[in-house]
Order: sequence, then structure tokens, then C-alpha cells
Amino acid sequence: MDLFEYQARDLFEAHAIPVLGGAVAFTPDEAESAAAKMGGRVVVKAQVKVGGRGKAGGVKLAESPSDAREKAAAILGMDIKGHTVHKVMIAQAAPIESEYYLAILLDRANRNFLVMASVAGGMEIEDVAHNSPEKLARVGIDPNVGISKEKAREIVLAGQFPADVVDQVVDVLLKLWAAFVAEDATLMEINPLVKTSDGKVVALDGKVTLDENAGFRHPNHESLVDHDAANPLEAAAKAKNLNYVKLDGQVGIIGNGAGLVMSTLDVVAYAGEKFGVKPANFLDIGGGASAQIMADGLSIILGDSDVKSVFVNVFGGITACDAVANGIVQALEILGAKATKPIVVRLDGNNVLEGRRILNEAAHPLIQQLDTMDGAAARAAELAAK
Ligand SMILES: Nc1ncnc2c1ncn2[C@@H]1O[C@H](COP(=O)(O)OP(=O)(O)OP(=O)(O)O)[C@@H](O)[C@H]1O
Ligand SMILES: [Mg+2]
Repeated sequence: MDLFEYQARDLFEAHAIPVLGGAVAFTPDEAESAAAKMGGRVVVKAQVKVGGRGKAGGVKLAESPSDAREKAAAILGMDIKGHTVHKVMIAQAAPIESEYYLAILLDRANRNFLVMASVAGGMEIEDVAHNSPEKLARVGIDPNVGISKEKAREIVLAGQFPADVVDQVVDVLLKLWAAFVAEDATLMEINPLVKTSDGKVVALDGKVTLDENAGFRHPNHESLVDHDAANPLEAAAKAKNLNYVKLDGQVGIIGNGAGLVMSTLDVVAYAGEKFGVKPANFLDIGGGASAQIMADGLSIILGDSDVKSVFVNVFGGITACDAVANGIVQALEILGAKATKPIVVRLDGNNVLEGRRILNEAAHPLIQQLDTMDGAAARAAELAAK
């Protein structure tokens, strides 16, 4: 889960990372009163979960509360790379002397964490990495060892920070690591980390990604979820504990096991080329697919108005094909008139013959059975194109 900048700011503050005052505002009125409370100059910042806000005109300095109101009016409603700005952050303005870069992220390829630190921060860190890689220190962190004070100093020196800020940046890095571990983050980035004219080091912009798989350890993370942005079908699926991702095609997909569902998407995408259709979703109903889970899955998929046909691709394992077939039949009973689209079923694996017999016997008008995955994918694609 990615956080908004103002949420990252609050999280940093909770972990004693130096930040400036910041408040979120949904209207120009709220922006004005937040700026008045803060006093002095403020920066009005678009809150969207995408980079490059500054360049897009989404970060503006305001000299007074009424100026903050005007800047907020200009930024609210703006489109930044396909993201509409619904809220702004009113941030205390910092007298910036230098801009640095500091980040910790999960390095999946190396099964490690990675710290990146650079004296050359600001908006163009990708350019720094590309044009002057010697200015960007990249140091792997063993998760079992973490970051000691000595290690932090080594990293900060490698990032070429000037002597007068080294101690402060070391302190920020240690706190950032503590926050990263405590919150189960996969990314914490500060860009820019600045030195102000009075020599203080402060985090001015933060990007944070939290690991949703660790959500059970953090009941308070629930309050950070952006419910407005969630796709309604995905939200409904989540409420039913289903592993569902909406895609933009026409063939609804249900399978058991993430690997089988992934390859089902491939096969349908391939078969669909001829008909101009694509998979409409990813849905893994897992190993023990009961009738209720099948009904829940089907009802989510049938609720997607883009879906024209459904492909149920199940490989019987511990839950044998007869149980799955009964599940499908009962699911259609549960759904009744809500089931309206053709459903292509391919069963294989444990007790397949009994499973196929059950479906044949039920002879539900919406169900067509095919024996192979390729054949079923082609039929589902053809039906979706009709
Ligand atoms: N509170 C602040 N006071 C003074 N200047 C600021 C403040 N916040 C941001 N700035 C200036 O605006 C620039 C861009 O801000 P910021 O880093 O928050 O946005 P961005 O980098 O364009 O957006 P993103 O990080 O989404 O790509 C900063 O590099 C800094 O120079
Ligand atoms: Mg930034």
C-alpha cells in the first residue's frame, strides 16, 4: 500500500524523523485556514500517489493564507499523470540551502534491503543515477544485521554528504531504518532531505510503501487505506477475502491456485487475439473451493459489466473435481437469476470423471464443458466476442 505524502509525513513524525508542519486540505477554504494556523510562508502540494508533482505544477509556494487559498484552488482538480488531485498538503515552507536524497527499499532480486543516499537530491534522482552514478551510494543491508551507527556513517560518507550535516543525516538514516522495520515497509524515500539556512536537516517529501502482507501486525494501518481509490469490484472481493484483480478485458477468469490462474490469463490472452478479447480479471479461489466461495467469485465476476463470458479453470487436488463440480452447481443455484453469462468449465485432476459427470447431469443452460485448457480458453474467447 502506497501512502500519500501527508501520511508519510505523519509516520515520519511518529518515528522522530525531523519534518516540518503539514496539514491536509480538501478545499481552498481549508487550505487558507491551515496556512493561517501555520503562519508565514507555506508550500501547497498536490496529494497524488505519483511522482513528478513539482514538474507538473502541483507544488507551489504561497506567501500568505489568501495566496495559499488561490494556489490550492489552482491545484485541486488538476490532473497529474492520470491522477486527479482531491486534496493538497499545506506544508510549512523551509529556507532550503541544499537538497539531498535518502531511501531504503526492499531489494527483491538480491533478497536484501537497499539504502540509497546522495548529496545530489531534489527532483531528478533518476538522472543522478543515470548521469553521475558515483554521486549515488547504493549499499545493501542484510536484514539479519540491520544498520548500525558505523554502517550508517559509512553510507552517509559514501553519499558524499558535507561534514557539517553528516551527524544529522546519520541520525535520520538510523531513525528511517527503525521506522522501516517497525512499520513493515518496503519503501521509505525522502526526496528532498534538505539542509535549511540555519543548518538543520529536515525531510521535505516522503514516499512510503507498506507491506500489506504484514497488515495483520498493524491494525492502525487500516486507517491509511484510500477507500475512495479502490475499484468497487476489488473492494467487494476483498470484503469476501477473495484474491481478485480487475483487468480490462471481457473474459472473466476463475481458477484455483495463483500459478494456474496466471497461465489461464496467458492462454486466454493468446486465444483472444483472434477475437479481439482479453481476460477481464485475475481470481484465485484457492485450494478448498466451497460452493460459497465459488458463488462469491462468480458473483463478483458477473458483477463486472465488461465481462461477456466466464472461464472456470480448476485442477482438482486436495479438493477433488467432484466437490468443485458440486460447488459450481450449488453456486449457480445460490446466484439464480443473477447468473446471466455463459460459463465455460474445464476440470482436470483428482476425480475428474465424476466431476464432469456431475456437471453433465446438472445440464445447466449456461455451462459448457471442455476437456482441455486451450479448447476451453478458445471457446470462452469466442463466446465473449459474440
Ligand atoms: N516545505 C517545503 N518548503 C520549501 N520548498 C519545498 C517544500 N516542499 C517542497 N519544496 C520544493 O519543491 C520541490 C518539489 O517538491 P517535492 O519533492 O515534494 O515534489 P516532487 O519531487 O516534484 O514530487 P514527487 O516527489 O512526487 O516526484 C522540492 O525539491 C523542493 O525544492
Ligand atoms: Mg520529491
